[in-house]
Amino acid sequence: MDICLRALELDDYKKIVIWRNNPEVTDLLGGNRFYVSSHREKEWVEDAIRNDRKNLHLVICDTDKEAIGLVNLTNIDLQNRKAEFSIMIGDKKSQGKGVGEKSTLLMLKHAFEFLNLNKVWLTVLTNNTIAIKLYEKIGFKNEGILRQEVYKNNSYQDMLVMSILKEEYVK
Ligand SMILES: CC(C)(COP(=O)(O)OP(=O)(O)OC[C@H]1O[C@@H](n2cnc3c(N)ncnc32)[C@H](O)[C@@H]1OP(=O)(O)O)[C@@H](O)C(=O)NCCC(=O)NCCS
Repeated sequence: MDICLRALELDDYKKIVIWRNNPEVTDLLGGNRFYVSSHREKEWVEDAIRNDRKNLHLVICDTDKEAIGLVNLTNIDLQNRKAEFSIMIGDKKSQGKGVGEKSTLLMLKHAFEFLNLNKVWLTVLTNNTIAIKLYEKIGFKNEGILRQEVYKNNSYQDMLVMSILKEEYVK
């Protein structure tokens, strides 16, 4: 599927709130589960649009320009030239069609070729094998395990730290 990335628009909160309230999507993310109201989501989008220097949230769009997910570079650290990566294909039927891989590559291009970052890192639940396979395929390397890092679904879960350096991306 062809995709594009674009800036957040205020109305995007209407879809994002649906994705964020879907346990099938959020159970795979590192964050804790919480119920999000439309009002809170709208405020989050407003805040993300206003403060896009340290945290960049881009909307993933499908061939029809419909929003299907979010890809993010957060904690952008211009002194140490690194940032944290995360991704959520919120629209379940768009998963497994190459969208995650293309969006990750586009965001890495932005990180390394436009923001001139040196390192992009991420954390992922060790049981999220689909995401780990994607990151390994792209060239992220394992940095280590954060033991019992988050409490989700009645148990403590480990998270894996992965990263890719600019020199590895260029290769
Ligand atoms: C994880 C996620 C980003 C992957 O994106 P996607 O569009 O579904 O994946 P893609 O179609 O681009 O697949 C890329 C690679 O991921 C792996 N992958 C994708 N779906 C898979 C599946 N069902 N089983 C095993 N591996 C899979 C494969 O390595 C695949 O490459 P291949 O097709 O050459 O084998 C997406 O499914 C998602 O957002 N899931 C919910 C939230 C989430 O887990 N976010 C990541 C948190 S760290």
